[in-house]
Amino acid sequence: MLGNFKDSTIKAPIAVFDSGVGGISVLRELKALMPWENYYYYGDSANAPYGTKALEEVRELTIGHVDRFIAQGAKAVVVACNTATTAAVRLLRQKYEDVPIIGIEPALKPAVLSKKNPNVIVMATPMTIREEKFHNLMDRYIHMAHIIPLPCPGLMEYIEHGDVQGEELENFLEKLFEPFDKQKLDAVVLGCTHYPFVSRELKNILGENVALFDGGAGVARETKRQLIQKGLLSESREQGEIIFANSEESTEKIDLCRKLLYSRAYTEEG
Ligand code: DGL
Repeated sequence: MLGNFKDSTIKAPIAVFDSGVGGISVLRELKALMPWENYYYYGDSANAPYGTKALEEVRELTIGHVDRFIAQGAKAVVVACNTATTAAVRLLRQKYEDVPIIGIEPALKPAVLSKKNPNVIVMATPMTIREEKFHNLMDRYIHMAHIIPLPCPGLMEYIEHGDVQGEELENFLEKLFEPFDKQKLDAVVLGCTHYPFVSRELKNILGENVALFDGGAGVARETKRQLIQKGLLSESREQGEIIFANSEESTEKIDLCRKLLYSRAYTEEG
């Protein structure tokens, strides 16, 4: 799969991994910042969702996939999934000291800094919110904001099915935010890489005064920084190649990935 790239490390692709199609929200930032790089996007839709699984299972799945990307010649790995990052990124960095491995975590810092004492909701998977990594992140900012973690089981499934707008999704989101006074909300952190694709619906429900934050652009900048540091940034200034793969046998998810990355109907956040 990645074999063609193996003879030249600098031209080797950056592997971008998610439990499904959500990591495309990170890939689009990577592509915008470093269009000359080659990317290999892998979604594990056959095993999704990750966010409602046990930590050990997600850890095993993630390490298994990353082992394969590196064995096949990826020059760097972006774990474009908050849940998989929580479960495995520390172990992966220990295992592959020489390979840049970039993870993602909920973009709490910019949300907290966006205003004085803001009311911030963090949307994420049940696992991301349950684990110590998130509690440590929250502890860092809790004195500067009122932070409410909001686990969203069932939300990623809409995006996995390509349903990024419509009445059913709207009802789901309405119900999710029902317990909160939207007038008092300042910011919502999209702590799962699937969620930026429902930004438009979220804005409809929350109103224009609630700012949305996601970590995709920050991950892209960090990836570039690490590639430069390790002398791995491609010198090519031609458009790079993107290969899509998915653990599901049908091409349905790969088609959806392309739509999410290239089609304005899916990417416009209104
Ligand atoms: N996209 C994943 C994340 O960023 C989660 C989706 C899932 O539950 O598999 O956390």
